[in-house]
Amino acid sequence: MGNVLRGKNIIVGICGGIAAYKTPQLVRLLKKNGANVRVAVTDGGARFVSELALATVSGERVYRSIFPPVDTTGTDYTRHISLGEWADAFVIAPATANTLAKLSAGLCDDMLTALFIALRPGKPVLIFPAMDGQMFLSPSVQRNIAILTAQGCSIISPESGELASGLSGLGRMPEPESIVSSLEETLHSSPESSPLHGKSIVVTAGPTREKIDGVRFISNYSSGKMGFAIARAAAKRGALVTLVTGPVHLETPPGVTRLDVESAMEMHNASQSFFKGCTIFVGAAAVSDYRPAAPYEGKMKKDDQEIELTLIKNPDILAEFGMQKAPGQLAVGFALETQTGLDNARKKLNTKNLDLIAFNFFDRKTSGFEVDTNILTLIDKDGVTTELPQLPKDSAAERLLDAIEKLYVKAGY
Ligand SMILES: Cc1cc2nc3c(=O)[nH]c(=O)nc-3n(C[C@H](O)[C@H](O)[C@H](O)COP(=O)(O)O)c2cc1C
Repeated sequence: MGNVLRGKNIIVGICGGIAAYKTPQLVRLLKKNGANVRVAVTDGGARFVSELALATVSGERVYRSIFPPVDTTGTDYTRHISLGEWADAFVIAPATANTLAKLSAGLCDDMLTALFIALRPGKPVLIFPAMDGQMFLSPSVQRNIAILTAQGCSIISPESGELASGLSGLGRMPEPESIVSSLEETLHSSPESSPLHGKSIVVTAGPTREKIDGVRFISNYSSGKMGFAIARAAAKRGALVTLVTGPVHLETPPGVTRLDVESAMEMHNASQSFFKGCTIFVGAAAVSDYRPAAPYEGKMKKDDQEIELTLIKNPDILAEFGMQKAPGQLAVGFALETQTGLDNARKKLNTKNLDLIAFNFFDRKTSGFEVDTNILTLIDKDGVTTELPQLPKDSAAERLLDAIEKLYVKAGY
């Protein structure tokens, strides 16, 4: 990778979490690698780490307030703007729940948050949330992370281990060495360097609706969040992404072409038109297996009789792609299982001729439909099985794309 940090201007933002005690070491490592470092610390951060230590290791004054001392002649009174222009990358570690909320809302009442807004467009922002695991997985924190991810920030999930509260689990900030590696990777990898750059990827997402009559339908709880996260992550890697989605309440990720459909047959027809031209087909939609044989025109009237609904099978979109795919094309599917688990996922991988399947267990709290996190086990056609921890869906999507990239390169395409 060479020394990508040499001569780079890096701002380190430090918030009020216990992990702030590790940040002088982070600043030292960045300096050792040749980076020019400026530090912005929140009031909370300054309670956990000494500004004197940070100033000493960075060799620069440490910024906290956005307001400079007025009696200093020659002060750059709009330091947040000049530093925002100066920076090649912004690393926020640790990022507290509080600061994530401020950043996602666009508040800027201290130097750290003002710099986030003043940073020049396109400059990488790496955010390392660190907090108690339950705090991290709370709907508010996950919502703020989703907003920041959609804005293009890289959110690096905390690690599992012992926490300051005495509990153990998800929440630890990665070690400074690992933060430096993430930054190096980001500065080194541009979308052009991804094997998916310029490749056509089709992702299906969300539920389908199968009409019973003009006002009723059969559907499922899929929210589309996983499929949208995959589409977003693929677009970030420079892929040409088409998202075929059932009815969901989600915004289209930047740079993604979206096709809205309703029924399984519509999803089938829309997807089929891309079978030949796409490089990778990711079936993340929860397509209804059956549909009413003869949907009623208009609204069915209630009477005292029981009614019988005859259901007929819908086509299996992913299996069709799996069977038709040519060399150079990859088929990736999902298996949401309630009981039989991994064995069933492996069976699906083989019968549908997939290259990779992501198995997730259905429990409605930590993984599967509607929730913001997922616990995936990736199984590839060579039998390589990778168990991922509970991750926000955006992070799970990144890991899935890493696995797809590996398979694609391994296949020699
Ligand atoms: C001992 C102690 C440890 C804390 N650790 C964390 C933490 O790891 N992560 C976090 O999000 N908040 C943590 N907090 C809460 C934050 O310090 C608090 O929300 C503060 O307002 C954050 O301010 P800032 O975001 O401006 O830095 C901790 C508070 C205390 C008293």
